[in-house]
Amino acid sequence: MFNFIPITKPKQKLVNIKMSNQTSYDRTKDLKAFDERKNGVKGLLDETKTGEIHVPNIFVRPLEDRLKDLTTCHENITIPIIDLTHFNQDGYSKPEIVKEMLSASETWGFFQVVNHGIPMEVLDNMIEGTRMFHEQDNEVKKQFYSRDSSKVVTYNTNYDLYKSKVANWRDSLSVSTLKTGSFDPQELPSICREAILEFLKHIIKLGDLILELLSLALGLQPTHLGKLITSQAWTFLCHYYPSCPEPELTLGNSKHTDASFITLLLQDHIGGLQVLHDNQWVNVTPRPGALIVNVGDLLQIISNDKFKSVSHRVIAQTIGPRISIALFLRGLFTSTKKYGPIKELLSEENQQIYKDFTIEEFFNSFFSRPGYQSGRDYFKL
Ligand code: OGA
Ligand code: NI
Repeated sequence: MFNFIPITKPKQKLVNIKMSNQTSYDRTKDLKAFDERKNGVKGLLDETKTGEIHVPNIFVRPLEDRLKDLTTCHENITIPIIDLTHFNQDGYSKPEIVKEMLSASETWGFFQVVNHGIPMEVLDNMIEGTRMFHEQDNEVKKQFYSRDSSKVVTYNTNYDLYKSKVANWRDSLSVSTLKTGSFDPQELPSICREAILEFLKHIIKLGDLILELLSLALGLQPTHLGKLITSQAWTFLCHYYPSCPEPELTLGNSKHTDASFITLLLQDHIGGLQVLHDNQWVNVTPRPGALIVNVGDLLQIISNDKFKSVSHRVIAQTIGPRISIALFLRGLFTSTKKYGPIKELLSEENQQIYKDFTIEEFFNSFFSRPGYQSGRDYFKL
């Protein structure tokens, strides 16, 4: 259990920004003041001397939420680990991997893949590239600060800052081809351009392979999900979770499920990601070279609830920064294709649970509410 520190604190000494941390405050005003600085949570820390900063009120979770928090499981249990070493090689049965993926997707909604073939150097460069982006000169970084959803490349603190109940202790660089299906590499920040391009090349290929294995796990043709979900339309987030002086008051990423078909995630050595399993938070302990894969809301819907899109979150910590990189395969916004439970999976005993919708309808609904609210129920029949 956490030790709860009272919300009311002595007056904080934040430089250049007036934000209260008293219980009554003008949240919208504080959010605007924070947002207009355009240098994120990291900027808050940079502007203060060590030990002088308290977590500003906009990031403080209501006490009742903290008190209701579920416990963290401290036993040695982990999300399933799937070894792809022998994939496609003689002597190892693909059905074995498919079975593992089926079981992981039905129960945990999460698994880690190891020996996936992406060179360690590509992963390390991606983490380093993310660090360099967030730690570069503020004046350069600021040029990317935006909440304009029509832009392919943006950097900000919490895409849902003005909608969520509480802000998360996290800054993110986002590249999204959801609306365009393509992007111009020259738009990427030069400091991490090469790292991103190289990583994307590999991770999208791995995404295609995972879709093939998940198709088989659903008893479909291997190309079924790949044809349905174009791997050209995605959102790519490079998260930076700065160290936090009062981690028990806030979160790096609130409890949520992902608005994606699948998400592939690379995390550094710090840890902090937790997955909800049997009503407890289970730590996803960092494993060098591993990539985390999880089922998103869209895959849960088209699998008619066979696969589970499971809640997860990232705790705030005094150690850091923590870096993670997430690729969300999302389908193309402009496509007129209707998505819904896959007809081949339905039967007398397995009736359609969700209505059909376009990707545009799904994401218009997603972006109109805070990220911690899942959109699945909205599309229930
Ligand atoms: C996300 C997410 C986890 C992490 O971006 O949706 O859950 O470890 N990230 O950063
Ligand atoms: Ni997530």
